[in-house]
Amino acid sequence: MASLFSRASRALPYLTGAAVVGAAGTAFYATRRPLLLDSKANEPSKTLNFPSSMLFSKQLTVTNTEQINHDTRRITFQLPGGEGEVSGVPAGAAVLTQHTPKNAWFPVLRPYTPTSDPDERGVLQLVVKQYPNGRASSHMHSLTPGDKLSIRGPIPGYTWIVSKEPPKEARSVLLVAGGAGITPIYSLAKGILSASNEQTRIQLLWGVNGTRDIVLKKELEDLELKYPERLQVTYCVSGPEAKPEAPSFGDEKKWKKGYIDAAVLKEAIARCESGQWGDEKGTKVFLCGPPAMEKAIGGKGGVLAELGVTGKQVHKF
Ligand SMILES: *[C@@H]1O[C@H](CO)[C@@H](O)[C@H](O)[C@H]1NC(C)=O
Repeated sequence: MASLFSRASRALPYLTGAAVVGAAGTAFYATRRPLLLDSKANEPSKTLNFPSSMLFSKQLTVTNTEQINHDTRRITFQLPGGEGEVSGVPAGAAVLTQHTPKNAWFPVLRPYTPTSDPDERGVLQLVVKQYPNGRASSHMHSLTPGDKLSIRGPIPGYTWIVSKEPPKEARSVLLVAGGAGITPIYSLAKGILSASNEQTRIQLLWGVNGTRDIVLKKELEDLELKYPERLQVTYCVSGPEAKPEAPSFGDEKKWKKGYIDAAVLKEAIARCESGQWGDEKGTKVFLCGPPAMEKAIGGKGGVLAELGVTGKQVHKF
């Protein structure tokens, strides 16, 4: 049985819907069957189906918005078909939000990975960081209940394959997030942990500037409690709280001062190597963060390369 996950591509949002369909036309794509105990007759339909909902946008209605840290909001939408629908967005995959600013000729499109579950009925949830002068994020932060938002997608992406037979040793993968890059990493982790027949273990490293930048903390803790043998989250705080004279964060295994550097990666890799490191396709590291971080860690001559991880073994969102 193959479970399929998707990845977001940075290049796609700037193409038109038609171009996206053309570009992705050759890519194999399928979505994960929602694991529901319903009979076939009342199986929920999907709001988003590639490629038609990439061409024709869907209108979602905002039901709730909530500020979850100093610059990030969680926005909850109702799917057009209500409880009879699920989003159709596989774990780790992104949708494109679309709005046309006043007096603008062209719409603004941005990829966001939902934090709601792929098989959750009637609901899509996005966690959106506000960037200074960010056109999409400012619009998203201005939304209030009752407002509508156009979305397209899902963007086809990474195909996660669940082994037919359980491997002799449990597989491990390393998930690395920087800042707001946590949303696809969180979604992928949740998808891997909750998929049936899946035993893969996850080392998740998340680099943030300050503890105030952390979101989804409760959600990550819940996953760690639910899958204690399979998920370990390590936070790396690089801002002023990381100064030597600043107080310790307490649990030094879980909370590190400084960037996700060679030492931190080495430790996490050692834990991965205690089993079989890499997924069925040989991908060992999934990386999502700001471009400078992705380059420093996963670029040519980056830290991972120095630690012997080849470019092919790293998947960047
Ligand atoms: C990190 O946080 C500090 C203090 O909150 C802030 O002054 C600084 O600009 C932040 N750096 C980045 C890269 O966001």
